[in-house]
Amino acid sequence: MAVLGIETSCDETAAAVVDDGRLLASVVSSSVPLHEKYGGVIPEIASRFHVEYINKVTRKALKKAKVRLGGLESVAFTGGPGLTGSLLVGKAFAGALAYSLGIPTVTVDHLAAHLFANFLVKKRPNPGFPFVGAVVSGGHTSIFICRSFKDFELIGRTRDDAIGEAFDKVAKILGIGYPGGPAIEKYAKGFTRKNPINFPRAYLEKGSFDFSLSGIKTAVFYHVNGVDLSRREISRIAWSFQEAVFDVLVEKLVRACGRFKLTEIVLGGGVVSNERLRVKLGCVCRRQGYKLFYPPAALCLDNAAMVAGIGEVLFRKKKEAKNGFQKKEQ
Ligand code: KG4
Ligand code: ZN
Repeated sequence: MAVLGIETSCDETAAAVVDDGRLLASVVSSSVPLHEKYGGVIPEIASRFHVEYINKVTRKALKKAKVRLGGLESVAFTGGPGLTGSLLVGKAFAGALAYSLGIPTVTVDHLAAHLFANFLVKKRPNPGFPFVGAVVSGGHTSIFICRSFKDFELIGRTRDDAIGEAFDKVAKILGIGYPGGPAIEKYAKGFTRKNPINFPRAYLEKGSFDFSLSGIKTAVFYHVNGVDLSRREISRIAWSFQEAVFDVLVEKLVRACGRFKLTEIVLGGGVVSNERLRVKLGCVCRRQGYKLFYPPAALCLDNAAMVAGIGEVLFRKKKEAKNGFQKKEQ
């Protein structure tokens, strides 16, 4: 029996089908182009897009997976965190569908789902608990100590902007489009690495695993003031900004491993699709003997495969616990 996953926490309407840990289909429809002219997500536009597309996306995923509605054992959906209106669409849809089929729903945490995306990659062994998990996206920059699929201890988070959000805002300052992450990465790749700008690195107080992105955002804003934004200068700013942000992220992740005596780092979220971050952290991990896990780009960005995947694990665990309890009762 298969599990259907529904994701509507932000600007992607997604549905996916998983059976026994195998991803059968994953469909994502994005409202990103509708937000482009505003340089950020407009919640009302995102919610209306979900209402319009949730049915189509679900039908497409089931068809692709060759699974009938009667072949589903549960419907998993993102319960939060996310935009309230957007979350409500997914919750109402998943609830109504499950009720009509007489099957249960499973509420999934969006951040846990981002990390779970690593368990859907079949070409390599899965990460082993406990590990240092980091969700780096447009809405979150959080470091966890993950002890099981349900036991995540938050040890650090952003005090202002998320890293992806800062990429989006800096791209807006530079006038290079939305979403900012891929645009900044593209410009940064074109930089010769000669004479980079030394933007501030916000390590915060000693021992802290928190982040702050407002300082560097302001530094970019002042740097751009009165400067001729040639293609070369944009590349130089994009590279220097990316390096400063990732230097801090890498330092905090590696320090978390040392502090909690862990040797595996597991990443999730849209920013993790950035190649420079993967290379930079990969080099440090190799030197330290740590294992680094990240999903393929399509599973870094918001998707429902990660929701269906962790939903299935949680559903099975609950079922096992119930069966165990009933056996004890007999
Ligand atoms: O995980 P995600 O799809 O949605 C949230 O849960 O927020 O992440 C979207 C964020 C955006 O802020 C986007 O600019 C950023 O991920 N992003 C990137 C890259 N691709 C997407 N940031 C840096 N480099 C990238 N290549
Ligand atoms: Zn996300």
